[in-house]
Amino acid sequence: MSDPSESVRVEGVHLLRDRVALQEALAELRERGDSLALVPTMGYLHEGHLSLVDQAHGSADTVLLTIFVNPLQFGEGEDLEHYPTDLEGDVRKARARGVTHIFAPPVSEMYPDGPPVIRVDPGPMGKRLCGISRPHHFPGVLTVVARLFALIRPDVAVFGRKDYQQAVLIRQMVRDLALDVDVQVGPLVREHDGLALSSRNVYLSPIQREVAPRFQAELARAASDFLGGMTEARHLVSGVRDRLERGGGMRVEYIEVVHPETLLPMETARVGAVLAGAVHIGSTRLIDNVLLGVRDEDPRLPPSDRSRRA
Ligand code: PAF
Repeated sequence: MSDPSESVRVEGVHLLRDRVALQEALAELRERGDSLALVPTMGYLHEGHLSLVDQAHGSADTVLLTIFVNPLQFGEGEDLEHYPTDLEGDVRKARARGVTHIFAPPVSEMYPDGPPVIRVDPGPMGKRLCGISRPHHFPGVLTVVARLFALIRPDVAVFGRKDYQQAVLIRQMVRDLALDVDVQVGPLVREHDGLALSSRNVYLSPIQREVAPRFQAELARAASDFLGGMTEARHLVSGVRDRLERGGGMRVEYIEVVHPETLLPMETARVGAVLAGAVHIGSTRLIDNVLLGVRDEDPRLPPSDRSRRA
């Protein structure tokens, strides 16, 4: 995890490490009349994160990126202690994409009174898909995102489509708690061989890295089977699962076809349905999804309530 005492200076970036510095910077931005787009991350930035920054620039005057490895969203035995960090590299990459403000607090600044007693409950949508094997994950994500929204009060917040369930839950939280933020979802960015970009790809050994693109390739094959007329979800799912398991080198945690907004399982897939999955390659867990009949560049989530109102 990043060392809060680490001192990083990059020309042109306000690197804010505590809430006082954050509030001072926000007051200055508000005085200037700037609108603010938030891009929350856990750092170790890659092109997927940076594409969210690009999108954020199109929606507000100033982009504030946060880097915080949130302990609440990791379960016991998960990779909290090993989660990759590179604060200096992150600041440089973000700067090169026009980010002027980065909030990268230590845990004691984010949760000054210790782990929050009150957590945001994602409800039944958080108990499906990834929520089955990671019951603490989405309450942890929603709690930190709600806290970031409260501290920063952004006009817009941008999240990636790779974490599809997370994006849907954040949208739902904003709607249900009447939070005044326009939640946008950015496209899913892939390596040249189709592997979805993820900070966790760094855990893969060279051999595992060779195996990993099969995950996306099989989801893509099911997406083309769908276009070819295969609409029964159980056939799409079993095709992906069987081919992945036959190929070896990875263990399938789940593959499902779900409704894009409710995340409920669908018996018959239709355009825009989400074919989502999680696999384990060695000790690395990867998630990915394709939207049936929709290109990867198209996030395909309906506009949030706030942009509907605008
Ligand atoms: O997607 C992530 O990187 C994290 O879940 C988030 C939204 C920054 C919350 O910690």
